[in-house]
Amino acid sequence: MKAIEIADGIHWIGANISTTDLFEGIWPIPQGVTINSYVIKGDKIAIVDLVRDWAGASTYLIDELKSLGISPKDVDYFVMNHLEPDHTGDLKAMFELSEKVEIITSKKGVPLVEAFYGFTERVRAVGTGDTLDLGQGKILHFYDIPNVHWPETMATFEESTGTLLPCDAFGSFGAFKGSIFDDEVSDADHKFYERESLRYYANIVGPFSNFVLKAIEAVGTLDIKIIAPSHGLVWRGDPGRIVNRYKAYANYMKDYAEPKITVIWGSMYGNTELMLRAVLQGIASEGVLTEIFRVPQDNISYILASVWESAGLVFGMPTYEYKMYPPMRDALTHIIHKKAMHKKVFRFGSYGWSGGAQKEFDGMIEKMKWDIVEPLEFQGGPTDADLDLAFERGAALAREVKQIPIKSKEFP
Ligand SMILES: Cc1cc2nc3c(=O)[nH]c(=O)nc-3n(C[C@H](O)[C@H](O)[C@H](O)COP(=O)(O)O)c2cc1C
Ligand SMILES: [Fe+2]
Ligand SMILES: [Fe+2]
Repeated sequence: MKAIEIADGIHWIGANISTTDLFEGIWPIPQGVTINSYVIKGDKIAIVDLVRDWAGASTYLIDELKSLGISPKDVDYFVMNHLEPDHTGDLKAMFELSEKVEIITSKKGVPLVEAFYGFTERVRAVGTGDTLDLGQGKILHFYDIPNVHWPETMATFEESTGTLLPCDAFGSFGAFKGSIFDDEVSDADHKFYERESLRYYANIVGPFSNFVLKAIEAVGTLDIKIIAPSHGLVWRGDPGRIVNRYKAYANYMKDYAEPKITVIWGSMYGNTELMLRAVLQGIASEGVLTEIFRVPQDNISYILASVWESAGLVFGMPTYEYKMYPPMRDALTHIIHKKAMHKKVFRFGSYGWSGGAQKEFDGMIEKMKWDIVEPLEFQGGPTDADLDLAFERGAALAREVKQIPIKSKEFP
């Protein structure tokens, strides 16, 4: 593939990854992911973020570079915005191929360059306020945006074209379907990328939402014309759209998210499932949107995405060996780990003799700032009275969730 010009003197030299591997060894990417790398040419040549040897990415990068008449030995700088190996895996090989290259990274990135790749020479630390003049009017400005999602992360801004290269910030899962640019993507495909950006956010960036908002503030005064992240679309038609999307996602952690209920359930013998039906009827009676997942069958990556944007959560699972049904503990552990705060929550489930699921559940969620609708535990199968109550609790939760304003309207 050839390099793709995104602005005068700036080209995309990344890779569309199609693989059955899991991203970060955890998250499925059935629709692929892109690892975006960019080359900026003045008198000097800089590559901003690399790739790793994954599904052919290294070969793509070299070929794309070659299509511009550039070989690795011509490159003067590797700007490493973020040291996670999806963007630096090739650093060692590329460094060996180049003769003069200098690694540019944040102050906190310097020890990571040494720890991951062993380089201490030809490494320069930069931070907010520092610039790198490539000549021919191409000047790179650096901004520390720590903890999005690693502590060393920075963003690079090329002033003459107004191009922001923020690495993982504003990133998304989902490979390119035919164009890398937001303004060449159909409305239907924008919906796809929106879901994939939410999933990326909830899986990777979520717990760092306060830092995301700080990062948006840090680059907020720049005259940004293009946002070129390290995963997903290059935003040149409407860069504000992905910024607003990220603002909404970040605010989901600070207050109730959208008026939607994510229902997660698991059942061994169907007793809890019987109550699930009644709870869902109760929610439906109030006309609130639900997304329903069964554990362990459904993948946590998609569960987290739905949880992140929901103001309401329902957990239905039985007791198992004096604790909660283990697949639900796994899901809940992920949800807590990602700091999905400020939810309205209802839990129900069956037990055989003395229960235990509710106690463990209560202990785990103590610090989540969740508003709890009174739980429903029942022995064996649910009675008609239990099912009536379940309907009522589902409806009560839905009525509360319905009051939540649509957050995405604040960030259109
Ligand atoms: C492996 C296993 C362990 C269980 N452990 C407990 C337990 O510690 N305490 C309890 O009250 N019930 C326990 N039960 C009983 C279940 O909670 C009960 O059968 C419940 O109705 C299952 O709900 P379900 O039909 O939704 O799967 C256990 C059941 C199984 C199969
Ligand atoms: Fe990363
Ligand atoms: Fe990344």
